[in-house]
Amino acid sequence: MVNIRKAAMIGCGFVGSSSAFALMQSGIFSEMVMIDVNREKAEGEAMDIAHGLPFARPIRLYAGTYDDIVDAAIIIITAGANQKPDETRLDLIHKNVEIYKTIIPEIAKRNCEGMLLIVSNPVDILTYTALKLSGFPEDRVLGSGTVLDTARLKYLIGEHLKVDNRSVHAFIIGEHGDSELAAWSNANVSGVRLDAFCEMRGHYFHEESEDKIYEEVKNSAYEIIQRKQATYYGIAMAVKRICECIIRNEQSILPVSSMMHGIYGMEDVVISMPAIVGKDGVEAVVPIELDEEEQEQLKKSATLLKELNTMIKT
Ligand code: NAI
Ligand code: 2OP
Repeated sequence: MVNIRKAAMIGCGFVGSSSAFALMQSGIFSEMVMIDVNREKAEGEAMDIAHGLPFARPIRLYAGTYDDIVDAAIIIITAGANQKPDETRLDLIHKNVEIYKTIIPEIAKRNCEGMLLIVSNPVDILTYTALKLSGFPEDRVLGSGTVLDTARLKYLIGEHLKVDNRSVHAFIIGEHGDSELAAWSNANVSGVRLDAFCEMRGHYFHEESEDKIYEEVKNSAYEIIQRKQATYYGIAMAVKRICECIIRNEQSILPVSSMMHGIYGMEDVVISMPAIVGKDGVEAVVPIELDEEEQEQLKKSATLLKELNTMIKT
């Protein structure tokens, strides 16, 4: 039986602990178990976060073992190596697939009925790996995908146009990584085409601005890692948002990564497209309109991920 108010956090490093902190503050869950191969790290983080509880809503927060995750509604996996300043996300494949080979069977053999939310990188490849290793149905395995990149895009567009970023509707899709793309052709600000809104705000060099913003989004992680070794607050908020959509059955549209079945010709590949996310995970992938160039870029991104998937022996 799933406890809809329970989460499990596997991996309690920068991303796991920040996500646990964001979840604790959100009040979505009333129980959260934290697991790390370094048990003391999990214990220390659980204690530290719990000491903020008198200022938040009640949640039972503790370091535990895999036996404690059986009834969790969402199992969030952030375990694994992070990028060093000279590495890409794809450089982490082998290390993190090996780590997933130890984690996912522990979950699978306990017949957990909750959802797997994959965050470790490369997130699309690891979501595919988790799907294959767990044997879970596809709708119960999703990755944080380009939810963070899309937040970065909205933030930067909002800054550029001096408008609330929550009024910006735009997506980064494809790989959460260097082959990702911005779906500019359908971007808008509260229904006003992006180009028209830019002109309203006195900006006329659309292509130049789009390229600059896209590069900034794509390179955000590199820039942050160069300065502080890791990224964790943005992703923590993204994890919180995804959990909220699932637990509250919001049916919001988020660019999570999930298995594709034919959309824009993509088949048997886990990649980010906008999707309706609710209590059953990914309810439907939304086929937003893309121009020819964007379709071509998406195809390249999917081909890259697919080739990498075939190299992994699960
Ligand atoms: P970190 O090194 O701070 O934490 C990783 C944690 O995983 C460590 O505490 C380690 O002990 C634990 N761990 C390693 N093997 C384990 C195992 N077998 N079982 C349980 N725990 C295990 O790294 P950080 O910065 O927290 O990053 C974690 C992952 O998240 C990385 O792969 C990173 O690239 C990824 N990430 C993903 C983002 C996204 O948008 N999807 C954003 C930011 C980071
Ligand atoms: C990020 O985009 C490193 O994937 C991580 O911040």
